[in-house]
Amino acid sequence: MRKITIFDTTLRDGEQTPGVNLNTREKVDLAKELAATGVDIIEAGFPSASSGDFEAVLAIAKEVQGVKTAGLCRAVTSDIQRAWEALRHAESPLIHIVIATSERHMLYKLRMSEEEVLRAAVESVKLAKYYCDDIEFSAEDATRSDPQFLCRVLEKVIAAGATTVNIPDTVGYVMPSEYADLVSLVKNQVPNIDKAKISVHCHDDLGMAVANSLAAIKAGADQVETTVNGIGERAGNAAMEEIVMALHTREDYYQAETNINTRKIYRLSRMVSKYTGLEIAPGKAIVGDNAFRHQSGIHQHGVLADRETYEIMSAESIGRYDVNPLVLGKLSGHHAFKELLVENGIHLDDQTVERAFKKFKIIADRKKEITLKDIMAIVEDRMRDVPPTVELVNYQILSCNNVSSTATVMLKRGEETLQKAAIAGGPVDAAFKSITEMIGLDISLESYNIKAITEGADALGEVTVRVKYHDNVFLGKGISTDVIKSSMLAYINAINRIYAEEMFA
Ligand code: KIV
Ligand code: ZN
Repeated sequence: MRKITIFDTTLRDGEQTPGVNLNTREKVDLAKELAATGVDIIEAGFPSASSGDFEAVLAIAKEVQGVKTAGLCRAVTSDIQRAWEALRHAESPLIHIVIATSERHMLYKLRMSEEEVLRAAVESVKLAKYYCDDIEFSAEDATRSDPQFLCRVLEKVIAAGATTVNIPDTVGYVMPSEYADLVSLVKNQVPNIDKAKISVHCHDDLGMAVANSLAAIKAGADQVETTVNGIGERAGNAAMEEIVMALHTREDYYQAETNINTRKIYRLSRMVSKYTGLEIAPGKAIVGDNAFRHQSGIHQHGVLADRETYEIMSAESIGRYDVNPLVLGKLSGHHAFKELLVENGIHLDDQTVERAFKKFKIIADRKKEITLKDIMAIVEDRMRDVPPTVELVNYQILSCNNVSSTATVMLKRGEETLQKAAIAGGPVDAAFKSITEMIGLDISLESYNIKAITEGADALGEVTVRVKYHDNVFLGKGISTDVIKSSMLAYINAINRIYAEEMFA
């Protein structure tokens, strides 16, 4: 059985998804969860892109153990030095250097000749090697590069010390059999290829990222670069959960395995969705809401008789138990609540369990049946906690069909109590207006999204907002059985994230 290395770039390429903005604390939390799930390498960021990126790579390098930490740099001295400043604290650091090798990129973006690109690639690998043993070299836009030039560059960077060579399909252009042929070509034509791992990195512009990655693995690639839920630039990157479960389910075909603990996949996927605010499509393979649901009577009957008639893997194999019905009720105690979390692989510190339990009790008073899905929502909500600089104390909303709505909201900010009434077209609008006026920050609402966590009129409503402050977008989430309250909680959560970021700065 071959071992395939999982190089996860959720925190770098994934964070390049439009509208996503993770702070350092969130990146560290996600990196810990990625490490616990079993990824081999975490690409923590692009240290010279911004001071925020640098801080995040530094924090992950210092705090996350049991995994290799990578930082991306261009083939320029200052990028490599900056990356090393952050990475040198890591248990196992890796410098990742990228330069484009396609004619189009060299001509229009880099304005460099082939020989100049070759020299920059080799010099930068040599410089990085001075700091760090483990070096990955990426030939950006490899699939649209002249294959002979690509092989020449790869040979030279391996000779200079690269331990992994990556051949990205940067623009999601290649087809699976072409990509497999390119991997074979590199294996056959680069004379020193046995001294480096071959990595593949695919984008999903034509919906081929996972198929291309798997074709490359079949052709002999040793490493695959992925993001959780397939998030990333434009149409995204190859989805980690899809590749891992394809290798796992079709072990007979690929004869390859990964270090991923598949039972942790669902929790990781949910966490990435919560932190980034990117919803998962219901029909998304592996982690979508409908991925294990059987609607047609014939299918349901088949599954009841023998699950494998219509299921090629079990929900449990990815750590998914939300297919189960009722789990806890109003009378359930602290112990049962904690047991349920542990049974589902959720290990939280006592303080977080305590806060989540309090919230569970409040909701259990209003909602007859509490399912595992509700509990996951409560726990995930607590996981995104930021210091509550501002808290909702009271509110009163007046809303009817032919006049404007009025919201009177009372907040606490530290020792201060604030109260304001505002009028607007709808109740949420009026509530947000009142909060904005009280807070006095120059913010604007970028997006608002509401969804029911479970079925039924008493379902928990989860609101996600994006709030713009200066040039940054802050995500806020709130859950409650009252959708106006969840809206206010989400808005206040985003405001608290602004305050937290300002304290950090
Ligand atoms: O898509 C790409 O080419 C990249 C490189 C940095 C590997 O993200
Ligand atoms: Zn990419």
